[in-house]
Amino acid sequence: MNAPARQDGAAPGGPFQVRIEPHGWCFEAGSRQSLFEAARQAGIRLPTLCRNGTCRTCIALLREGRVRYRVEWPGVSADEREQGYILPCVAVAESALIIELPEARRWDDPY
Ligand code: FES
Repeated sequence: MNAPARQDGAAPGGPFQVRIEPHGWCFEAGSRQSLFEAARQAGIRLPTLCRNGTCRTCIALLREGRVRYRVEWPGVSADEREQGYILPCVAVAESALIIELPEARRWDDPY
């Protein structure tokens, strides 16, 4: 018997919890949305500019978990990847995540 189709179109295994440090803010990220999109839905603003993985404005340190990319060549070097840097504008959660991103803000925060 096949598993029932999910209404949100997410692949099995998602959504995953994402925690933004040092703030401690948490949100859920589906397997078809970027971390930026999932954070925005939860009222959390991540720094972005291009939103296509080239400008690096959103670069963040992944402390725990695993992501994949929507684009073939995200703008992080092999060394940066090894150190844990990710680009949340084009990264999709593949597990629960802890991300270090002090520049994150609440959308209702005027600063
Ligand atoms: S916003 Fe430009 S790389 Fe993420």
